[in-house]
Amino acid sequence: MKKWISTLALAAMSLQGFAQNEVTLDASQAKTQINRQIYGHFAEHLGACIYGGLYVGENNTKIPNINGARKDVIEALKKMKIPNLRWPGGCFADTYHWKDGIGSKKQRPSIVNAWWGGVTEDNSFGTHDFLNLCKELGTEPYLAGNVGSGTVKELSDWVQYVNHNGVSPMANLRKENGQDKAWGVKFWGVGNEAWGCGGNMKAEYYANIYRQYATFMTDWDNGSKLFRIASGANSKDYNWTEVLMRDIPHHMLEGIALHHYSVINWDKKGPAANFTEEHYFKTMQQALFMDELIQKHTAIMDKYDPKKKVALVVDEWGGWYEVEQGTNPGFLYQQNTMRDAVLAGATLNIFHKHSERVRMANLAQIVNVLQAVVLTKEEKMILTPTYHVMEMYNVHQDATNIPVEIKSNDYVFGTEKLPAVSVSASKDQAGVVHISLTNIDINKGQEISINLKGITAKAVTGRVLTSAKVQDHNTFDNPEKVKPTTFTGASISGGTLKVKLPATSVVVLELK
Ligand code: AHR
Repeated sequence: MKKWISTLALAAMSLQGFAQNEVTLDASQAKTQINRQIYGHFAEHLGACIYGGLYVGENNTKIPNINGARKDVIEALKKMKIPNLRWPGGCFADTYHWKDGIGSKKQRPSIVNAWWGGVTEDNSFGTHDFLNLCKELGTEPYLAGNVGSGTVKELSDWVQYVNHNGVSPMANLRKENGQDKAWGVKFWGVGNEAWGCGGNMKAEYYANIYRQYATFMTDWDNGSKLFRIASGANSKDYNWTEVLMRDIPHHMLEGIALHHYSVINWDKKGPAANFTEEHYFKTMQQALFMDELIQKHTAIMDKYDPKKKVALVVDEWGGWYEVEQGTNPGFLYQQNTMRDAVLAGATLNIFHKHSERVRMANLAQIVNVLQAVVLTKEEKMILTPTYHVMEMYNVHQDATNIPVEIKSNDYVFGTEKLPAVSVSASKDQAGVVHISLTNIDINKGQEISINLKGITAKAVTGRVLTSAKVQDHNTFDNPEKVKPTTFTGASISGGTLKVKLPATSVVVLELK
């Protein structure tokens, strides 16, 4: 017996470099589409997200631009493939009056950005600028309406301004401002964080207000097919979802939002780049909590809407840390490391798993704010590790989700543990299977044996994003420290795929 134990111990020791994990993919059970809209982004008037990040103004001669929007950023974002972009907030949305951002730029009134740094903005980036930028990016706009400090008329006028093609006061005004054809915006947020910066409302009160706003945003049977998204719960506020699902007639509601940030502690968020393993582990706990959150909000929605007509829209997610030293605390500018890369990969895997209900999501935020995909400094621009993950994963957009069963090793930190490996898979319209894997363990590689049920494939190729340290990131002086490379750690034989994932890594495989 003693000898048997020591043989086992030896075997375990020999695997210490690469711990074992088991996965089954069952393609015969693949039926739900991974809605590409879960790959959405978020651009708020916050810090250097809009001004300096996306937009530098038409008269800027130093930074190449298309109608004021940065060419370098546009090119990078196009490659990443953004299905939708949410604007103008966030908290800012409930202070924003869209009519201040149309017409001659010289005559636009200014606005004090009360939530974010108290800076005065000149409103030079408004509705036309945003919607034309979306066109340039090939992305669908998602406009967040002002409920907290606006009026029903203001929001219904905005809908008419951007969507009405006939003769009407707002369509005429749009034409006077140089846009003949309506843009036809489908996605509309009815306020933001109504439980907080959007008005500190109670769920019951907001549900009533929502009904009123939604009534005047379109016609009674929503013939214009607007996709109206109610301001949703703050993380695990399950009561918020319960009340909204109960009190809002479902013919008035296409989506309910959910906001969840991977923050360690709102009073002590920890540094974005110079973090410890403890900080890292806690961030990952918060990130993986997304799975439980979605399950519980979904269970409530299922009770009222078993046919899953109403989508769960996770329109703010991502890592939130302390701002970089010397930057304005109201600008939420943070570095982006391999921690953010695995956070993004693991979160997208969770969204894929829940693709029946989660049909839209928005990473916060797109440029220079929170978990940004792009950072800019005057005329320079860098891609972050998160950018690379969003780009590698875009093969799953609109593909059919393949259900995954997984037995993962633990990533152990002190007395606590988390599953080290997360996996998702899909089959695209050409029949190509893609598998995404993350290893959040920063100390150990993982060997994974994947049983391919109903998948006939002979060859496997892939890309990996990894780096020596989890704190590694790109800088303006070293912009390519973290970037995807060819992955050679996978082999396929007789219906089994073997993968060796390095510590702290994100891998996307293609089977053929
Ligand atoms: O993304 C930053 C802020 O976080 C948003 O403005 C708000 O909606 C949330 O609290």
